[in-house]
Amino acid sequence: MEPCDFVLFGTLGDLARRKLLPSLYQLEKAQLIAPETTIVGVARSESTDEKYVSLVRESLEKFMKEPIEDSVWESFARRLRYVNIDLMQSNQYSRLRDYVDQAQRETVNYCAVAPSLFGAICQGLSTAGLATERARVVLEKPIGKDLASSKVINDAVGAFFHEGQVYRIDHYLGKETVLNLLALRFANSIFTTNWDHNTIDHVQITVAEEVGIEGRWGYFDQSGQLRDMVQNHLLQILTLVAIEPPVALDSDSIRNEKLKVLKALRPITRDNVDEKTVRGQYTAGFLTGGAVPGYLEEEGGNTRSNTETFAALRVDIDNWRWADVPFYLRTGKRMTTKRSEVVIHFKSMPHNIFKESYRKLPANRLIIRLQPDEGVDIEVMNKVPGLGKGVHLQRTKLDLSFTDTFKNERIPDAYERLLLEAMRGNPALFIRRDEVEQAWTWVDSIQNSWAAQNEAPKPYAAGTWGPIASITLLARDGREWDE
Ligand SMILES: NC(=O)c1ccc[n+]([C@@H]2O[C@H](COP(=O)([O-])OP(=O)(O)OC[C@H]3O[C@@H](n4cnc5c(N)ncnc54)[C@H](OP(=O)(O)O)[C@@H]3O)[C@@H](O)[C@H]2O)c1
Repeated sequence: MEPCDFVLFGTLGDLARRKLLPSLYQLEKAQLIAPETTIVGVARSESTDEKYVSLVRESLEKFMKEPIEDSVWESFARRLRYVNIDLMQSNQYSRLRDYVDQAQRETVNYCAVAPSLFGAICQGLSTAGLATERARVVLEKPIGKDLASSKVINDAVGAFFHEGQVYRIDHYLGKETVLNLLALRFANSIFTTNWDHNTIDHVQITVAEEVGIEGRWGYFDQSGQLRDMVQNHLLQILTLVAIEPPVALDSDSIRNEKLKVLKALRPITRDNVDEKTVRGQYTAGFLTGGAVPGYLEEEGGNTRSNTETFAALRVDIDNWRWADVPFYLRTGKRMTTKRSEVVIHFKSMPHNIFKESYRKLPANRLIIRLQPDEGVDIEVMNKVPGLGKGVHLQRTKLDLSFTDTFKNERIPDAYERLLLEAMRGNPALFIRRDEVEQAWTWVDSIQNSWAAQNEAPKPYAAGTWGPIASITLLARDGREWDE
């Protein structure tokens, strides 16, 4: 447990109240925060430590599913301090000096604010003499909306902190099930030896959201599903499925391998964007809770937007391991249900000796459920017991449910893991600048091709799995989505 001072910029914002403060509380409960660590909340409005402590308590009560334990709360509340700073005013950052003691401890500066403020925060810390080797900065997504804007942000931060001090968040990398991809692949010889074009037919990655844009129309409409979800979360999952074995678990070994995958992604350009991608936008429809409006009728929306709320892509990785193994990615809002999963489709048997029972043997599938109901299934063929004539087969599941198997273990929220690693000074689960830029380079080519086409996204009713065209995307290759 390394003591540090933890400064939370944007402490009264949605992310901080909903995710970060509850996660810090959980770390307190697990006794993973050093006794000397102070948590300093920073926001604009003038307030006091006492008022801040009661606001934090309110946030925990509102956003945590479990009741607050008195003893944990007491030690947590003792760490909380509040400082008001207008983040655009460099001269105000000296107020932090009363709380941050770099002679004794390192400082973690968590920027839970809009990316346009990252540079100002780093400048302010520097003006206050706090941008030293004893400090690191944690940056929330999105790092820009394309390669050029991400460079501007990275340069603004890089002017004060070197790359080893910059921790870029993709909260998917804190999810237990995403981390388990590394364990599955590199701790099990049955997978290690069956993980390439010889045995795998194709891979599907789905991140389906049931929610719409949750009151963030203004933000989302400038971005769209490709930039908001594919550039970061889906590509990060893809890299972990596809990387070569890293020599060790240290941060650069893993990140070097991820970068190689990103560099091997075949570009999608104006020439092939039609056959490789589908853009969709939801219209009014029905979900479990009842009728919901379409994207254009959402609060704060306008009727002209061409922004996609759904994207499906065929991605090819041009390297030895993945030759001719497509990765199909899809992600959308207002889909049938909330579901994130990776499905590895193995190749079919070359010859079928069970024709009487099964005219075409289904191929094995490995299903990695990221959320909800985290776990891993393997579908295998089995003989149905009995004395009947012939051998009757049935597809059955070897089912590893995390909640059943690890009954006594709590599955931590992704942010708990990431906050802890940031405090420990371990950057392995954070994104390096070259990864961000490589991902943007690939995504920009798609975005620019779409812009040049200037076509409206394909409509799909809320509560469905997306536009018909996404079915065609796979049907063209003789395949279909797992549903
Ligand atoms: N919310 C999420 O679930 C989520 C998920 C992933 C990533 N993110 C990212 O996380 C970041 C924060 O998101 P959010 O939803 O928490 O935003 P938010 O609710 O708008 O909160 C932003 C915070 O920044 C503060 N702030 C803005 N300008 C400031 C200034 N000049 N000086 C001092 N404080 C200032 C605001 O303080 P005031 O109250 O004084 O205005 C507010 O507390 C964004 O980059 C977002 O993209 C959010």
